[in-house]
Amino acid sequence: MQTTQPFTVAIDGPAAAGKGTIGRAVAVRFGLAHLDTGLLYRAVGAQVLLGAEPIAAAQALQASALERDDLRTADVAEAASKVAVIPEVRAALLDFQRAFARRAGGAVLDGRDICTVICPQAEVKMFVTATPEVRAERRFVELTRRGHAPAEEDVLADVKARDERDSQRAAAPLKPATDAHILDTSEMGIDAAVAAAIAIVEKARGLS
Ligand code: C5P
Repeated sequence: MQTTQPFTVAIDGPAAAGKGTIGRAVAVRFGLAHLDTGLLYRAVGAQVLLGAEPIAAAQALQASALERDDLRTADVAEAASKVAVIPEVRAALLDFQRAFARRAGGAVLDGRDICTVICPQAEVKMFVTATPEVRAERRFVELTRRGHAPAEEDVLADVKARDERDSQRAAAPLKPATDAHILDTSEMGIDAAVAAAIAIVEKARGLS
């Protein structure tokens, strides 16, 4: 079901709520391109951990930097959420995200400010959330599977610290858009969450 018209599915939500998994599944189901915008901030954060200055790193960011396989660590996540409070860093990443959102053929973007700042005109807006405890448990399982061995209480503390920083910052804070569909995945398996998101998109496309 390819389309040449822009069609944007914008998904926001806190860390480990399931928005990446949902975003990828929606993109595959509807033949849309997918951008995990957290990777942009992670790529800048990774450069900062190597000594770069955040604004210069954001301005010089190349798409190839998103493919590095060391962006998923807790240290990089922490650095990402620190650079993400800097308005000039966010401004440097804006055009790339907006162009991606309105590309021919349609796109799914997930992040923190996609519905509210990057693409308020998105045809579908969702806010995917879950309790901090559920999200920390998912992150713990994922990190353990990748061979890291974090303490569970540290993972919960990290999730809460990032929530606090992401939702309290002045520049593009994490909050649901007033017209977003709220998807609380606390008590849903991932299959049910994906099915719910697909139903929302089908409705918007007039398919149900
Ligand atoms: O989604 P992910 O956990 O990879 O994002 C890493 C960090 O990047 C978040 O904690 C947040 O501070 C920042 N971010 C953001 N805006 C986005 C996507 C991510 O501020 N659209």
